[in-house]
Amino acid sequence: MYQAIILGSLLFITLYILKRKREPELTMPPLVSYKFPIIGHTFDFFLNPEKFLKQCREEYGDIFCLYIWGQVRVFVGIEIARKEHFGEVYSRDDVFDVLKAFNKRFPIDVLCPDLLKVSPVAPKTLKDTIFSKLKLYSDRMQKRVYLSTQKHFGDCDESKIFYNLFEIVTKIISDPIANIIIGEEESQHEEVLNSFANFIIDSMIFLTIPPFLDIIYPGLQEYVNRIQIRLGLYNPAVKHRKPLLKHIEKQVCKRLQEKEKYGDSWKRPDDHLQDLMEEHDPNNISCPYLLDRIYLIIFASIHTTAIAITNVILSLASRPEYMQELYEEQLKVHKETNVNGIIPFEALSDMKKLDSFIRETLRLSVNVAGIDHLVKKDYTFSNGLQIPKNCITSIYIDDVYRDEPKSFEPFRHLDINVASKVTKNFLTFGNGKHTCPGRQLAVNNIKFFMHNVILKYNFRTVSSKIEESRGTGFTALPVETSTAGVIFEKRV
Ligand code: HEM
Repeated sequence: MYQAIILGSLLFITLYILKRKREPELTMPPLVSYKFPIIGHTFDFFLNPEKFLKQCREEYGDIFCLYIWGQVRVFVGIEIARKEHFGEVYSRDDVFDVLKAFNKRFPIDVLCPDLLKVSPVAPKTLKDTIFSKLKLYSDRMQKRVYLSTQKHFGDCDESKIFYNLFEIVTKIISDPIANIIIGEEESQHEEVLNSFANFIIDSMIFLTIPPFLDIIYPGLQEYVNRIQIRLGLYNPAVKHRKPLLKHIEKQVCKRLQEKEKYGDSWKRPDDHLQDLMEEHDPNNISCPYLLDRIYLIIFASIHTTAIAITNVILSLASRPEYMQELYEEQLKVHKETNVNGIIPFEALSDMKKLDSFIRETLRLSVNVAGIDHLVKKDYTFSNGLQIPKNCITSIYIDDVYRDEPKSFEPFRHLDINVASKVTKNFLTFGNGKHTCPGRQLAVNNIKFFMHNVILKYNFRTVSSKIEESRGTGFTALPVETSTAGVIFEKRV
């Protein structure tokens, strides 16, 4: 027993020393000093990143390194960002990779092994297909948002308290997204909606548990996560991919047969599944491949949009003083434009106050440091500072807004009128070459959702206080894990 402990400790110390020795001799940004070896800055960062990063910046400038979870990470601050390095991180995709960094925390490669292979083609196809048809999809998405909201929130004749908003919103938003991705027919099946929503909900554990094991040896947490999946101890993908594949196969088969049968008079379904099918020879369509393409969209769209909507609800529930003003705007839009309860696509741009409120919420709910990129090869910034391959860079986003950055001013973006517009001081959707191509789809869905709930309900936080939604550390994701209650009651 004692021998095993001694041997284990020797092995650990050897590995630790070897690891440290292997670290290359580059002119890296300054490493912030720390007291405790191995632990480094982990707890300072984890417990209060906002305060801690501010101190680091004051002492070390706008680009510095921290030793967190057993690894050195580079924080690229916004002042530097505005000049050159930020542009470098966002534009040099031969060096900085968002998806690879995400894959370290969230083992996509073992959950859905071919998904990373299809990722490079996705943004372009999405732009040419879904994102250029937002107007065409507007009515049916809106309808699905309203029906699904009714299903999950109900009438609220008596006031109801919801403590698990993120989960409910994930289910609501899965409905319109499934509708335009897999089509009207298959998205009616509860099984399909569950696959869209629950895969993300069940996979959250990989993002919410801090990488404690990395303190023992960098990468150990990632290794253990992957082993669990490979051994089948916990694999949410198996459960959710199978039913979705079954529905894709059914639909592909049906469409091919009907097209063959009806020829030119066949009515082409308008959805992304059809777009994807048309990329291939009809005799050579691989349904598992289509499933991976669809999973990529599930990854990119559902979790992100659900977080954003949850934040907007929490933000308004925390500040009921803005409810009346937003209600009046939505009522006007509704009265002037609705046909059978559905508003036209163009009416989205009449929701100026709501748009600004959404943008302000998104601005203030990004993590203080985030948009992690994995460095694919040693890199020298244009100021001469260097970072090694396999290092993670995080953008230090805090205070990106110059004018009263911490203050929530819901109508400060009225002149912009497009919550999805990317500017240097609004980084929720990234920046540069890989700026989120789905941002308008996301904002449209948020607006449809908020238009409906503002008209139907009054809502406020149970605590009657402001429920903070800002992300902290690398792993604490307050909105997903939040138990902040919100009271909904029918508007009379
Ligand atoms: C509020 C919701 C959303 C947020 C906050 C968000 C945020 C982001 C961010 C920060 C990036 C990385 C940008 C970069 O590398 O600099 C990104 C990329 C991406 N997003 Fe979104 N996103 C959202 C919704 C969506 C939706 C609805 C879709 C639809 C499918 C989508 C599809 C994508 C894709 C395909 C990429 C990769 C782009 C590329 O690599 O060129 N996103 N998103």
